[in-house]
Amino acid sequence: MTILDIHDIPAQRRADVLEQVPTGLLIGSWRSAEHGDAFPVHDPATGAELLQIADGTTADALAALDAAVDAAPAWAATSPRKRSEVLRRAYEALMARTEDLALLITLEMGKPLDESRTEVAYAADFVRWYAEEAVRLDGRHTASPDGGSRIITSPQPVGPCLLITPWNFPLAMGTRKIAPALAAGCTVVLKPAALTPLTSLLMAQILLDAGVPEGVLNVITTTNPGAVSAPLMADARLRKVSFTGSTAVGQRLVEQSASQLVRTSMELGGNAPLIIFDDADLERAVRGAVIAKLRNGGQSCVAANRILVQEGIADEFVARFQRAMAAVEVGPGTQAGVAVGPLIDDRAVKKCSELVTDAVVRGAKLVAGGDPLPMPGHFYPPTVLDHVPAGARILDEEIFGPVAPIVRFGPEAEAVALANATPFGLAAYVFTENLDRALRVSDALETGMVGINQGIVSNVAAPFGGVKHSGLGREGGHEGIEEYLETKYLAVNKS
Ligand code: SIN
Repeated sequence: MTILDIHDIPAQRRADVLEQVPTGLLIGSWRSAEHGDAFPVHDPATGAELLQIADGTTADALAALDAAVDAAPAWAATSPRKRSEVLRRAYEALMARTEDLALLITLEMGKPLDESRTEVAYAADFVRWYAEEAVRLDGRHTASPDGGSRIITSPQPVGPCLLITPWNFPLAMGTRKIAPALAAGCTVVLKPAALTPLTSLLMAQILLDAGVPEGVLNVITTTNPGAVSAPLMADARLRKVSFTGSTAVGQRLVEQSASQLVRTSMELGGNAPLIIFDDADLERAVRGAVIAKLRNGGQSCVAANRILVQEGIADEFVARFQRAMAAVEVGPGTQAGVAVGPLIDDRAVKKCSELVTDAVVRGAKLVAGGDPLPMPGHFYPPTVLDHVPAGARILDEEIFGPVAPIVRFGPEAEAVALANATPFGLAAYVFTENLDRALRVSDALETGMVGINQGIVSNVAAPFGGVKHSGLGREGGHEGIEEYLETKYLAVNKS
């Protein structure tokens, strides 16, 4: 592992980008918070304060819902073609601002600049995809079995939505919700994570400039998420909540959704197994495991959380994987050549340390990394643990960091049993050259997504989501827009 600590981006360039970020709340138009309060956003690579932004209150949240409710009828009545064109312009505008958005993502979240550029393209692509889907919404027309009436169904927007996004993909998790909502004809209140709100604020201004009408997109930043979400969930005018984040918070929102029967989409925690069989292409497996583990520094709910390797290939895999992980460059995301940036905060570093210590105490063998790095910011090195025993916390908890625990297994059935031994069910990865086995194991895995011979499942055209404690509903693909639509059925008498 190489540690790089010289930043490449000139201070003036950082200042120029930060200057473009609106620092208020978007409630129809930009304004300050109810009491004028603000909170700081920090750079996880240095701890330095980047900017102060408005700290929204319950009254601000309700005002944002007022704005979304007022704008809803006109937006729902806007033709699909017009909504599509607004989104298409938004896509072009986001892409044109790639460098600004990418730098902002890196400054507030820490990921390497190249990875931030990839996130901008991924995020913008959701907007392009749903610009295309906006004009493809259709229903059914059929005869009733007795021939007495015609049955016509048509999709309708669900109504005003609350969208709550996490800090790990500050742009893509927003557009993955906003774009299908707007394409469906819904208006929204976005509440981005307090750790990384700056990208959402600039994105909102870009969308307004592209023609999103006043009140259709509202943004509330806050350090008190409960004060924003609870009153909105209790308000009969809110018809939908879409949340990406922890299972505990998702469960609370689902409980709150009961009082007004608010539709929910929940993209929650994961504990992804990455299974490598003896018949895998080893090079491909190592490459896939590194991507599945280190994308976003491991701070992703689809990150490989447990690497399960069949005994016959295990020694060779561990040797190659350990070399690949140890060669990765760690440092500030603004430094050229860096592949893993800082973790989001000290708590994340502490959690990685605790999980590694617990595993080692229980008998796991540390083969790479393992110690927090001696530099400012929140850095933890790519780390590999072999022979991790059952009962180690790291096999049961979401790591959200660059630590790879390896478990060896014998027969195929053992791999499936180990993989499914978790309440989570988001993603899994399978590496094998045997198609029958790939399909058989995929069928047996209790997850919403399976990567076969690849370490990444995320794709705007595919339905992203999980089962069990990993959530409800899907984002992306055609399925993603269904989350924002109700079906209206017309019974037409046939005389
Ligand atoms: C995540 O929600 O952590 C993963 C997002 C993605 O890969 O699309």
